Order: sequence, then structure tokens, then C-alpha cells
Amino acid sequence: MGHKGFRQGEATQVSDKRVLLIVGGGIAAYKALELTRLLRKAGVAVRPVLTRAGAEFVTPLSLGGLAGDKVYQDLFDLTDEAEMGHIQLSRSADLVAVVPATADLIAKAANGLAGDLASTILLATDKPVLMAPAMNVRMWQHPAVQRNVAQLKADGLQMVGPDEGSMACGEFGPGRLAEPEVIFAAIMTALAGPAARPLAGKRALVTAGPTFEPIDPVRGITNRSSGRQGFAIAEALAGLGAEVTLVAGPVFLPTPPGVTRIDVETARQMLAASQAALPADVGVFVAAVADWRVDEAFGTKLKKEKGGPPALTFVENPDILAAVSATGPARPRLVVGFAAETNDVEAHARAKLSRKGCDWIIANDVTEPGVMGGDENSVLLVTRQGTERWDRAPKDEVARAIALRIAEALA
Ligand code: CTP
Repeated sequence: MGHKGFRQGEATQVSDKRVLLIVGGGIAAYKALELTRLLRKAGVAVRPVLTRAGAEFVTPLSLGGLAGDKVYQDLFDLTDEAEMGHIQLSRSADLVAVVPATADLIAKAANGLAGDLASTILLATDKPVLMAPAMNVRMWQHPAVQRNVAQLKADGLQMVGPDEGSMACGEFGPGRLAEPEVIFAAIMTALAGPAARPLAGKRALVTAGPTFEPIDPVRGITNRSSGRQGFAIAEALAGLGAEVTLVAGPVFLPTPPGVTRIDVETARQMLAASQAALPADVGVFVAAVADWRVDEAFGTKLKKEKGGPPALTFVENPDILAAVSATGPARPRLVVGFAAETNDVEAHARAKLSRKGCDWIIANDVTEPGVMGGDENSVLLVTRQGTERWDRAPKDEVARAIALRIAEALA
């Protein structure tokens, strides 16, 4: 991709980085092993610290084996202190990660306690600290834990998760350790440093996928949008450090790491969720929203015996892109729409730009083979200043290029 719109970010060298990984005591400790494997595979050195409670759940042998390093366990272990004191240990890495971060470790760190190796390291380190909490839902929701977490965030620690879901203890709710892939992605981003996060501190709203407009409780009108381009853009924006809310119609795609996802069905729900996600610095409207909905969806299932095919009357759906473009002070500084066209692509896109009141239209010619529902995209970037034609590329590459352009525009 030669043109100026497609500068790839400088390849970030993280392969010579080191992570000090503190493994706390909880059922989720086994996921720290998978995280260790992912980091090592990416060329990141892992120096493990296992708390006494952590050692009840995973063994030093498996942790040390996967890390390819000695496992540090005890503050007062003279051999350890001979090899590397806790102060030096706390600074021997580029990042300290606590996975899982238990209520106990969180409380110690929030209050500056230093009664064991893990908490002493957290107090002595001068490196960024990332914590992935995991605990029972009631414990997580307890005011004491929430207070400690708020304190740690105020102190500049980064929290990843916890996720919501069913837990080992049989309860349901927030408290589950974030998936190893998500913690891995957060660590890699943190290791890459601020230059790789030009959108840090910026908020982004992305809509993606089709909408589903009900006819009756079991039927509805939808379209073939896969949601892939929108999800890829949400992921690329988050990868550059943005805080991303992804409002998704019904699609079968995993939530990109670090992205807040809100699932909706209808255009009206998508509009409400999008408005609730404001203010944002940028809005990217990729969803294939149904232009029409059935005027009054039937409350009960339509039966074919009852007098032949039903007459459906349609009413127009709200235009989410136009509505957000017209939002007063809460309007995102940059509003980006998409346009799928079959002919006169640039002219149609430019007309859409003024009709919808947005700043950019990213247009593609859907008659090109392999674009609609496919893996690749070939786009025109239409702005008020002019038009750029981008080379055909895989959708995730197009997404990264769009995210970089957004970062430039917001800089
Ligand atoms: N869009 C939206 N809400 C709608 C319809 C469209 O937010 N109810 C957004 C899409 O997400 C996309 C852009 O508007 O970013 C273009 O949508 P499109 O349906 O192509 O535009 P229309 O105005 O419907 O133009 P036409 O159907 O004439 O091509």
C-alpha cells in the first residue's frame, strides 16, 4: 500500500521486553500458565513470582517450566536474596503484571503493605503495573474491594477485567479473570509504549453488523452484513489505545480485546445505544442498518390459516449516522460513515457526506468480487478536502489504516 493514507505503524519491538508476572492464589491461576505461554511465544521474557496462596493452585514446576526462568516465592528466601534482592527484582522487568490479582493482593497494594514478596515488589517497583483481578462476584462487588480498585486506578495501575460470567464457585456475575488472550493483548500494548497508543485517552463509538427488525415474535427482516469490517475497526482503534464502545447488531463474532460491546437488534435500539455511548471523540458507523421496519410488529406468531399472506406496512428507521452527526455539543469531533455502492461510487459517497452531515465517508464498490461478505475491501476515503483511493487489502489491514488516519485527524 503505497499511498500516504496507509502508513503502517512503526513495527514495535517488544521481543526484548521482560514481564515480572505475579501469580496470586485463586482458581484462575491456571490461566496465568497460558498467559506465560503466549508471552513467551511472542518473544517476551517472563520472570514468575508465585505467592504462597498461588502455589496452592499451580506448581512452581509448571510455572517455571513455561517461563523458562526461576520462580521467585519467598521474601526471606536467602538464596533468592543472594541471586536478586526484591528491590532489584521489582525493577528487572519493563512491566509488572498480577494475574490473577486476588482481593488480598489488591488490598495490600492499595494500602502499601509489604509483608511478602509480591506486595513488596508492588511497593518497590518503578515500572508500570497491570492487574487482572479474579474473585467471587460478592467479593468483587464489596465496597472495600471497589474502594481499593479505585485507589489503585488513581495511583496509575491498569486493570484488565474482570469479566462477567459463570464462576467456579457456581455464582454468576463480574469477577471472572479476563481471558489470557485479552490480558496478553493489554500487556503487549503496554509494552509497546505511548507512541503505539496515539488514541490513549480518546473515546470511540463504532456501530457494526446488520440490524434485525421483527415482524412477529419469531420472524424478522435482516441483511447479510457479517460485521467483520466494523469489528476490525473497533479492534484497531482499541489497539491504538482508544476506549471503544462497539454497538453490534446480531453477528457471530467474538468481542475484540479491550472493547466494550453492546448487543442490540433493531435500528432504534442501535440509535439509543449509540447516543448513550456519547460523548465520544470519534464515531465510526459501519453497521448495515435496515432503512425500514414493519410498522407495528405482530405480538403473536402469524398463522398461515388466518386469511393468506399478511400485508406488512413499513415505516422509516432513524438514521443513526445522521442523528449523531446532528448531535449538538456531544457530537464526536470526527464522524465517519460508510457507503456500499454499485455505481458512481465517488459521486454517491460525496452526496451522502453532505446529506448525512458527517466528516468522512468510506465508500466501497460492492460489485467488486470478494468484497461483500468477503475478506478484502477496496475503499475510497471521501472527505471535505478531497478523495483518496486506497489499494485493495484485507479488511483488518484496511481497519488499521482507518484507525491510523483517525489518530492523525484527532492529534
Ligand atoms: N446508516 C445509519 N442509520 C441508518 C442507515 C444508515 O447509521 N438508518 C449509516 C450506515 O452505518 C453507513 C451510512 O449510514 O455508515 C450509509 O448508509 P446507507 O444505507 O448506504 O445510506 P442511505 O442513506 O440509506 O443511502 P442509499 O440507501 O440511498 O444508498
